[in-house]
Amino acid sequence: MIPKIMHDPLFFDLFLQDMSISVTEMFRDPSVFDVIRKKIFTSLKTYSKVNIWHAGCSTGEEVYSMAIMLKEEGLLKRARIYATDFNNQSLAFAEKGIYAANKIKLYTKNYLAAGGKASFSDYYHARYESAIMDDSLRQHITFANHNLIKDQVFAEMHLIICRNVLIYFDQTLQNRVLKLFFDALIHRGFLVLGDKESIDFSAEKESFEVYTDKERIFRRKVHL
Ligand SMILES: C[S@@+](CC[C@H](N)C(=O)[O-])C[C@H]1O[C@@H](n2cnc3c(N)ncnc32)[C@H](O)[C@@H]1O
Repeated sequence: MIPKIMHDPLFFDLFLQDMSISVTEMFRDPSVFDVIRKKIFTSLKTYSKVNIWHAGCSTGEEVYSMAIMLKEEGLLKRARIYATDFNNQSLAFAEKGIYAANKIKLYTKNYLAAGGKASFSDYYHARYESAIMDDSLRQHITFANHNLIKDQVFAEMHLIICRNVLIYFDQTLQNRVLKLFFDALIHRGFLVLGDKESIDFSAEKESFEVYTDKERIFRRKVHL
């Protein structure tokens, strides 16, 4: 008998939902966003077009946070954000950009701690118990299914954010994904990992230099 998971796409999605821990929040670890805004954006401003990839974007909170910062720094119009995950249910949720109103207090606190320059309420419309993210942010985001374990590079990136995803992979898979990021990044492009993630034991360690240790931000070196 062919297992149900092999032929039923809905069942497969439900299985992935169980398998993939999708916990996330807006401006999670505010100091990371603060460094991206104050240091990395200074470098991105020298390009006429900027590609940013959120790999393992889950339900999109991190992606809208990035779009808000780009808007405040005058970079959104020249930016394209690719938001990918292998979980279609999370992606559908992310694309809608509708979040529970009871999370807004925490997100506003994170936004301000991350150097937010306006009022967080400028970026969503409140409706009943929900906050709907503003369309001007969504227009610059492309949501797509991408499996880091088996799919390829699809565009040249200036900045890749892949936080709290590698912790679920063994060293072989981490090596594969870090090589994928190396291939996707432009020379001197930036890579942001999660606070429990490291390249120290990876075969790709020499491909990157540490940019800021505390925030787990790295920069692609020249081809070896
Ligand atoms: C804990 S969430 C991280 C969300 C967000 N990056 C953050 O740090 O707030 C991990 C995400 O990685 C995704 N993921 C796990 N394995 C993946 C794979 N092989 N390819 C793409 N996404 C994957 C999961 O579906 C989940 O949405």
